[in-house]
Amino acid sequence: MIETSTKLRVVDHPLVKQSLTRLRDHQTPSNEFRATALRLSRFLVYEAMQDLSVRPVGVETPVGPGEGVVLSDYVILAPVLRAGLVLSEAAENLFPNVRIYHVGLKRDEVTLEAISYYAKLPDSLPPDCKVYVLDPMLATGGSAVAAISLFQKLEVRTINLVSFVAAPEGIEKVHKEFPDVTITTAAVDDHLNEHGYIVPGLGDAGDRIFGT
Ligand code: PRP
Ligand code: URA
Repeated sequence: MIETSTKLRVVDHPLVKQSLTRLRDHQTPSNEFRATALRLSRFLVYEAMQDLSVRPVGVETPVGPGEGVVLSDYVILAPVLRAGLVLSEAAENLFPNVRIYHVGLKRDEVTLEAISYYAKLPDSLPPDCKVYVLDPMLATGGSAVAAISLFQKLEVRTINLVSFVAAPEGIEKVHKEFPDVTITTAAVDDHLNEHGYIVPGLGDAGDRIFGT
């Protein structure tokens, strides 16, 4: 992993790079795209969760007593609909009882503004919970900032963002508004084109994951 700053982690593992290359390829069919997106999601979630807290416990092995740990954080997943569902599916398997708050955002194709269409959050959350905002594409950063704001308003102290590909513009926007948010991504790409798409990116993540 390359830590370009303590708040930006670019995962540089060969398996991650290979998966991302399959996603970038315009010829990768939808079924392979979805399976590969799920695999990449597992790798990225694993990296993003390296700071989870644990508490020591004793464990009895078939041979005798040993020492182990259990996770002690109150973890929240916040997938941004709809492309973030694939990251959520990967993360859910690691935490059978995890709490999931879906955030519905749609980018206006002309203004590129993030439009909220669904958010059902509680009135309060434990301030020391750890929130993982899950969104494969960090382009202008409008969607990520809108999703993070929801949890910031609830005074959550630790918010992470997990993406497949990030544009410099999106990273800058998120860190300008929320300097404490840690971004974990597989790549920082070159720029955004005039339609707000990441270049080279991988195209429309939601459409390619769901074959629409
Ligand atoms: C895509 C993507 C992000 C957003 C990123 O969602 O999944 O949520 O765009 O762009 P931004 O950083 O400029 O806000 P889209 O609005 O296409 O919705 P979808 O996931 O339902 O396809
Ligand atoms: N949303 C996507 O799905 N892809 C991009 O490149 C930008 C926004």
